[in-house]
Formats: sequence, structure tokens, C-alpha cells
Amino acid sequence: MKKVANNFCPVVAIDHQDSRPFHRQIYDGFRTAILRNNLSAGQQVPSTRQLAQELGISRIPVLTAYSQLLAEDYFETRTGSGTFVSQSLASLKSAIAQPTNGNGTHAGNRPVSRRAQAVTTLGSWPWVFGWGAFGVGQVALDHFPFATWSRLISRHSQRVHARALHFSDPMGAPEFRKEIATYLRTARAVNCDPEQILIVSGSQQAIELTTRVITDPGSQVWMEEPGYWSVRRVLMMSGCSPVPVPVDDEGINVEEGARLCRNARAAFVTPSHQLPLGSTMSAARRIQLLEWAEDVGAWIIEDDYDSEFRYESMPIASLQGLDRNSRVIYIGTFSKTLFPSLRVGYIVVPHDLTKQFVAARLASDLFPPHLYQAALADFMAQGHFARHIRRTRQLYRERRSALVHSLQQEFGSSVEILGAEAGVHLVIKLPPDISDLELAERAAQEKLWLWPLSRTYLGPPSQGIILGFGSTPDREIPNAVRRLKCLISELREANAASESKAGAAD
Ligand SMILES: Cc1ncc(COP(=O)(O)O)c(C=O)c1O
Repeated sequence: MKKVANNFCPVVAIDHQDSRPFHRQIYDGFRTAILRNNLSAGQQVPSTRQLAQELGISRIPVLTAYSQLLAEDYFETRTGSGTFVSQSLASLKSAIAQPTNGNGTHAGNRPVSRRAQAVTTLGSWPWVFGWGAFGVGQVALDHFPFATWSRLISRHSQRVHARALHFSDPMGAPEFRKEIATYLRTARAVNCDPEQILIVSGSQQAIELTTRVITDPGSQVWMEEPGYWSVRRVLMMSGCSPVPVPVDDEGINVEEGARLCRNARAAFVTPSHQLPLGSTMSAARRIQLLEWAEDVGAWIIEDDYDSEFRYESMPIASLQGLDRNSRVIYIGTFSKTLFPSLRVGYIVVPHDLTKQFVAARLASDLFPPHLYQAALADFMAQGHFARHIRRTRQLYRERRSALVHSLQQEFGSSVEILGAEAGVHLVIKLPPDISDLELAERAAQEKLWLWPLSRTYLGPPSQGIILGFGSTPDREIPNAVRRLKCLISELREANAASESKAGAAD
């Protein structure tokens, strides 16, 4: 069988004006790339013939350079396989590595924006990326119809029309947008037609794009307090000021919002299932919020991220469906209904804003990729999406009941459970002597992924933890809750011991 080279050609520049001969330029190019770690020990290099062809020169200087590099042990050959960077360099690398300039690698003025600097202070969160018990945002992958999904992906990757591989509509694929509009009108009572649907890479991009279209640097935006942490990053990056508006069991407190900042440019809300506390916005509050927006000329961003999963009643209709003044920009995602790594979500854009949204889209990633849109359009049209939601709703109902039951069994009435009526997470409040951040950090070491409630506040926080139940099978929940109880007891004991030590020292 003909052997196909699997190696890329490294950047070895040949300069015809350079006084050094070609073989010396090639030798220096490889040597520098190896010492700077751009080529690593064991990595294959191109054959002399391939490199000569790429550089457009004769093979002789390449052969001369290679034999020098072989003689000095920068290269080694393996019979029948080709030429490689010497394995023996692996252990010597750190000793011989050279900085890229005499002053070190980060010399000189290196300005970054104040916004980027501010966002990095939000810190790293070990519990975000862990997989396992209580992980927030994790879904039941064990029940995902992978066979159907693979069939659709395979079909769409095999039979692709050239048009689908070229630049396409910045709003997204028309057939997919049609399916989404039908779904939203039917299941979420959203007033929309396919022309308003803009396909994005998840709610996060939706929030970012929307913020760019409707705000200016310095604009004030209501955020639920406590609220969705990722919105804070977006607002900071856009130079907006978040205005934390308290939520209660009817949702965002509109009167308080108006008192704090009546003329805000927008309000970001999660009316179907408030993140994190889980309340559903009451009808009265919805009307109050819409009236406020109409009065002051503000926008409402409705993040409807997990409303498909409601356990004690039918799903609650969207806020957008009540809006008579096209003030609501509705955002949805497939991250909870299917899985987050799809990175597919959508915005229902008010008709009069589509031009601005398209312009903003063209300024960022131009248009969404084709393959998942095509597969998802079929997945929805053939009924798999609706079926999967029905199945997982029942499954999450069971997982949620198992979690609530275990929490009640282990903690009795000493913990308050919030927001268990919908979605794939709930919240338990902690007594103030327990730091949720400390608990989450300790738990992460044991692969329990608790999200500290305090991180969802902009102002003075309450202590608590957010527990996801989407990915944990019922049978594993009691054990996970027992481990959680142990961790809380250990933390309490450690706190008591350090307090008594401090007391003795006084
Ligand atoms: C309030 C809220 N909105 C949206 C999302 C989903 O974001 P994305 O669609 O970017 O994955 C999440 C995920 O946890 C969320 O908590």
C-alpha cells in the first residue's frame, strides 16, 4: 500500500537574499524549532523530497541539512518509517530550551483591556468541568438515543450538497429554523415565525450577541440577584453595569428594580425556572415587568434554559408569548434537552431588530456550522426530539424525587430545599457557619461537584449549594447524599476545632 505522509511541513523559511547557503538556513530553521519546542521529541519531519518540493528548491541542500542534523543527534531515522526529532532530546529539553528573545518571553508593554482584566478576577471554578454526582448542567446521556443521532449525523455528513459547505445564511439553516419555530409556538407559546429565529452556539453566545446589539458601554442592566453567573461575564466584557435586583418566590422584584434603576436598558430574567433559586415568575410580575419595559423603552432578555422539565404541572408558557410590544428577546438552548457539547441554541429576535442581529453575527462568527443544524432539523421533524423530552422528563422526575427523599432522610428538616419543581437542579440552603465555597472545594477533591450558591450573588450572599441531578442514576443518589453529609460534618468539626484553638490562644 502506498504510504501517505502524515506529517505537516514545519515553518522553515528560505530567504534568497540571505547570505547563508540554503542547507544552513534549513539546518538553523530545524534547530531553532526544536530548541523552542515547536517540534517535539519523537515528532516526524517531512521527507527530504517532500520538503524540497514545498520549498521549491533542489533536494541537495535539504539532504545536506538533514545529514548534519542526524550527525548532531537532533534527528534520528527509523527504517521504513522516516525521519524524526530525536527521542533522546525529550529529557534534555528543559536544559537546552532557549527563550525567544534575550529579555525573556514576556518583556515590554503588553496592554489588555480593563474589561478583560476585570473578568479574569472572577476566578476558576473546579466544579464546573467535573463529571459525576450533583454536577450542574449535566444531563442523562445514558438515555440519549445515540443510534438515531449517529444515523442522522452519518447521513448528513455523507450526502452534503456543495451549497451546505459554503458560506451560508447568518441566521441559520431555514429548515432547522422552521422546526424550532414550530416547536416554540406549540410547546412554549412563543409568538414567532422562522424568519425571527437566529441559530447560535448555545445560550451563552445568544446572551453575548444580544448584549452587543441592545446595550452600549455603561448601559445598566437588571440581573436577578442571585442570578446566572455567566451573564455577569458578558456584561463585564461589554462594559455594562449589572444592577442586582432581588428575586423572591414570584421571580424578579420589579418594583425594587425600578427603585434601584428605573431607566435600565434591559433586564435579564429566567421566568420559567429562576436560576438558581427555582421560583416561577408569577403572572402579576410578568405583566409588571412587561409594563415597565414598555414604559421606559427597555428590553427583556428571557433565558428559557430548562423549561421543558416541570414536574408538578404543565410547562409554564413563555414570557415572550404575553408580550404585545415586542420587548422580549427570547433565548433557548439544546444544552439541557439534548447535551451541552452540541453548542446549539437560538434567539427569537423581534422583527425590527433582525438587521442589527445579522450585522452583529457577521462581525463575530459569520454563520452557524451546517452539520448539527441539518441533523437536528431531522431529529425534530421525525419526532425524536419530542420523544426524548417526554422520556427524560419522566426520568428526571424520578431522579429528583430520589434526591429530595435522600436529602430529607439524611438531613431531616435541617436543610431547606428550593426549586425542585422544575429543571435538573435544586438548591439547599446551608447554615451561615458553613462556607459553601470551602465545602465545594473539598467536595471537588472527592469528585462531588457542588456549586456554591454564594457565587451567584453580586451583593451579600447566602450560603447554600446547587445540586444537579440530571446525570446521576437513582441508585447512586443515596450514597452521594451520605458523602455530602459526611463532608458537611467534617467541615463543621474542622471549624469548631479551629475556633476553640483561636479561643485558647486569646
Ligand atoms: C441560566 C442558564 N442559561 C443557559 C444555560 C445553558 O447555556 P448554553 O446553552 O450556553 O450551554 C445554562 C446552563 O447551565 C443556565 O444555567
